[in-house]
Formats: sequence, structure tokens, C-alpha cells
Amino acid sequence: MTHRLFIYHPDSKIYEEILSKRLPGLKIHSAVHSKEAFDFVKEAEIILAWQIPDEVLKRAKRLRWFSSIGAGNEDLFKNPHLPETVVLTKATVYGEMMAEYIFAYLLYYSRDLSKYFEDQKHRVWEKIRPSRLYGKMMGIVGLGSVGKEIAKRGKQFGMSVLGVKRIPGPVENVDQVFGPEDLERMIPLVDYLVVALPLTSETYHLLGEKELSLMKEGALLFNTGRGKTIDEVALTKVLKARRIRAVLDVFEKEPLPAESELWSLENVIITPHVSGINIPGEICEEFVKNYERWVRGEPLIGLVDRSKGY
Ligand code: OXD
Repeated sequence: MTHRLFIYHPDSKIYEEILSKRLPGLKIHSAVHSKEAFDFVKEAEIILAWQIPDEVLKRAKRLRWFSSIGAGNEDLFKNPHLPETVVLTKATVYGEMMAEYIFAYLLYYSRDLSKYFEDQKHRVWEKIRPSRLYGKMMGIVGLGSVGKEIAKRGKQFGMSVLGVKRIPGPVENVDQVFGPEDLERMIPLVDYLVVALPLTSETYHLLGEKELSLMKEGALLFNTGRGKTIDEVALTKVLKARRIRAVLDVFEKEPLPAESELWSLENVIITPHVSGINIPGEICEEFVKNYERWVRGEPLIGLVDRSKGY
């Protein structure tokens, strides 16, 4: 039987080109705009997409599997046009890239790169002792596919790694796993606090002024999951006091409004939601594996549990 895949994405032609070579038995159609999608989506049993307009999704009456290109799908799984009978999977390929992002900034700070960029401009030859990543303590809030990759790199750099998980239990490369109720016990211990959480009713504003104020003096906070997991008003207040530093990739409102005070704080690095960017080759690799499982009726990689919200 020939199955039908509909791809909806600004880069949908690239996805189509890769997948038509890898899965020649699959009938593929792709679109970038809603109107060109209407006809084919009616026949599709599978959709590969990230954000898809309701006017397209509601026409997908034969849909059995929605394969999301995103890692966090908080809008999708509540969408009334995506009933529970449709299997929803998330992409689990972003961990390695997001771990590279975290370590790019950890090395930037520990090796004082901004000082040496400046010194070079002014022909200054001045050595300072670097701070080490080796021996530092990292705390990761959220030990999903992303948190686990960050933990692995932390261990490779000789760090102690702590983590917070909804249901605590042993996790490879994590020395101690805490439950969410012990977040306040973990925060004061760590030099680097990495928030890598999906957005759910339980993670909304999980970190507020109380939690952020528990961070060590000079500690570095990362947020790479969802902006709304940290109360941004409280975060701005704590950062303005200059006790801690932050590297922020996600915000409560994106793009971060030009009037946000965060832009002007020199203890803050802001990036525009780029720590994990979809690379068609990587997404397609995972889709191919999953498609083969789907055809055989086997459990899919990245299956979203709608009752947990991720
Ligand atoms: C994602 C994202 O969830 O881009 O994939 O934030």
C-alpha cells in the first residue's frame, strides 16, 4: 500500500528532495503556503511539519501520524484539529546542537574570549589566567533528549553534573538527580544552571525570583527550552542586580521586544532562539527511522505523551 506524506515548511522542497530519495515508495507532496496545501493534505496519512495553519490541518481528515519538526509542541498537542487518535511525535535530534551552544558560551566566558578579541584590535599582549570548566558543577533542569546531551558534554569537560527530572531516577552522566520539589536544594550548589524544559502547566514560571536569588554569586544561567519556564519580570530584576549572568536563547515573547531591558544588560547574552535549528538532513534521518517503525507498527521515536505535555 502506498502511504501519503505531506510536508509543510518553508524548506519543504529540501525535505521532499531528501525523503523522495530515501523513501521512494512513499507518495510525497510538499508546500510552503496554505493554499497550495489544501488538495494534498486531504489525502495525507502523515504530516511532517512544525507550525501549520489550522486552515490546512483541519482538512487532514485521513491523518494518522503528525511528525513534528520541533522539539517542543505545546501549541500542537492541544490543537482541536489534531485529535488524540493521531499519533504525535517530536524531533529528538536537537540535543547535540544545543549542547554545542551551551559549551560555546561556557568556553567564551572561561577563556575570556571577549578580552582577547578586544586586545587583538588594540595590539595588546596581556595574559590572564583562565577559569576552568574542569571541576565546576553544572545543574540541568530538564533531562530529556537535550538535557542528557548537555550532561554528557559536562562530564567530558570534567564537571560534576546534577539534574532535575519530573520523576527522579538514575540518568547516565548525571551524578545526582533531584525531583522538582528539590530544585531549591540544587540551585545554590551549581556554577552553571541550564534550563532545558518543555513548556507545560507544571513548568510554567518554574523559576521565579525566589529560585533565581538562590543562585551562587557569579553563577551563569542558560535558558534554551521555553521562555515561559522562567518568570521574565523576576529574571530581569535579578539580572539588574548583577549578582548572576545569563545566556538567554528563549523569551516569554519572541522576538524579544526592542524595549526589553534585557537587551542592555552587559551580564546578559541574548540570541534569537537559535540554540537548536532544524537541519533537514538530521530531521529526515530520524523521520526515515520512524517511518520504517510506523510501517511495522513498532513504537515511534519521540512519541509525545499528551497527558504529560511533551
Ligand atoms: C523547538 C524549537 O521546539 O525550535 O524545536 O524551539
